[in-house]
Amino acid sequence: MLHIIDDIRQQAALKLDQAKRSEQGQYMTPAPTAELLASMFDNFSGDVSLLDAGAGVGSLTAAFLQRVVQEGGVNKITATAYETDKVLINNLHNSMALFAEVAGEQKIQWHSNIIPADFIESAVNQLQAISFDATPITRYNKAILNPPYFKIGSKSRHRKLLQQVGIETGNLYSAFVALAIKLLEPGGELVAITPRSFCNGPYFKGFRDILLEDTALKKIRVFNSRTKAFKGDKVLQKM
Ligand SMILES: C[S@@+](CC[C@H](N)C(=O)[O-])C[C@H]1O[C@@H](n2cnc3c(N)ncnc32)[C@H](O)[C@@H]1O
Repeated sequence: MLHIIDDIRQQAALKLDQAKRSEQGQYMTPAPTAELLASMFDNFSGDVSLLDAGAGVGSLTAAFLQRVVQEGGVNKITATAYETDKVLINNLHNSMALFAEVAGEQKIQWHSNIIPADFIESAVNQLQAISFDATPITRYNKAILNPPYFKIGSKSRHRKLLQQVGIETGNLYSAFVALAIKLLEPGGELVAITPRSFCNGPYFKGFRDILLEDTALKKIRVFNSRTKAFKGDKVLQKM
């Protein structure tokens, strides 16, 4: 299944507006790196509620499902994928149809929910709903992310939205990870591939505070080379 999704990824990448790729942070994960991310989850049992925010063509959800198929122990997967690019959303529908088939063959109940909307706006709305009127929201026990990488301007709409839920950060990748953390169930697991720029400097202090206060960091894999991790896709050189 992963090689089919990898072909879809490569075909879809050719159809993207190349000038906007950097602006949208559309650097997609090749299958070997997606498999590595999926291998980092510790607990694979029971019912899974999976978040893939900025899902592209669904490469990370594919790798997650492949691991479940290989190891068993999961009865039901509800996969939620956020994506804003129309070309990628069309491909994501095809990928999800394939995942439903694969899961069905393994007697795994499969439900998918493609949300063609801005993850930041949607997550902030949900988090605000909890604090304003205790409305129950969708929470996830697994999240797998290769979020978009791009600076968020200090006066931008995204920056203002994030501030409404106490997140002070200046890049889309740290915003996506911080929001995903806040949408996890207690004890949930998140695996994300990100630049390492969050590790130092005052610019990412707010994000580091969320990581250290709201999560337990269990595994860190450092890639020596960005081009190796994203072999087969152009990688943003300026992050
Ligand atoms: C770095 S790519 C990774 C795609 C996919 N997760 C993968 O690993 O191949 C980030 C994705 O996030 C999408 N994206 C960018 N801004 C978004 C937003 N505000 N809400 C939802 N998706 C967004 C982009 O279109 C892109 O497909």
